[in-house]
Amino acid sequence: MNYSVVIPAAGQGKRMKAGRNKQFLKLAGEPLIVHTLRLFENDSWCENIILVANKTEHQMMWNLAKEMGFQKISGVICGGEERQQSVKNGIDSLHKEQIVLVHDGARPFITVDVIHRLVETAMEKRAVTVAVPVKDTIKRVKKGKVVDTLNREELWQIQTPQAFQLSLLQEAHTRAKQEGMIGTDDASLVEWLGHEVCVIEGDYQNIKLTTPDDMLLAEAILQKRELGKS
Ligand code: CTP
Ligand code: MG
Repeated sequence: MNYSVVIPAAGQGKRMKAGRNKQFLKLAGEPLIVHTLRLFENDSWCENIILVANKTEHQMMWNLAKEMGFQKISGVICGGEERQQSVKNGIDSLHKEQIVLVHDGARPFITVDVIHRLVETAMEKRAVTVAVPVKDTIKRVKKGKVVDTLNREELWQIQTPQAFQLSLLQEAHTRAKQEGMIGTDDASLVEWLGHEVCVIEGDYQNIKLTTPDDMLLAEAILQKRELGKS
């Protein structure tokens, strides 16, 4: 069951406060983006990786990919101002009808097990996202006052990867651009088109490295996985 993956890595990582794009921060001695890329490089179902990079980091990304010997990266595409634009640029470079995954460069801990369950579901349902049930109680707050307490049973934290039939995702992105719709993830654009999006349960370790604290967590997850191997 083959798929292509688009990996947006063209952000600036402002919340990480590292003074540079977090994709290049080292985790166990290697840039964050290398961990993410290796996962897909090593997954036999993955036949093609499109990496989306900042214009200024485009060459650096190519060099890194070459240095690591990654074979599946068919293109490094320039990103846009917003993540949505970066993903659109990535999927516009694909033409053959297929399942396409969109996965944040900043999530290095996705597992092959979750990816395969996602792809299998996408073959049948056309639009699927990975998510985990929220652990905390979520309240709607306005001007420092609680307006509503939401039913936790129904709340899920949405992650990537998200998987789609390529033509469906392209239609969603094209229409969204035409009509000025901005979504915080790709699934929301497909929902906005009126298409059902399914959810499969992933795991809590699939964090997005966003703030400096996440780097500590990331090192801990890596250590735990290394121990598990031996
Ligand atoms: N991304 C992208 N193009 C953008 C913005 C974000 O490709 N214009 C990518 C990021 O590189 C990241 C993923 O989308 O892999 C998720 O975004 P986020 O975690 O918000 O990363 P940044 O935008 O880099 O971080 P920040 O919002 O803190 O600046
Ligand atoms: Mg961002």
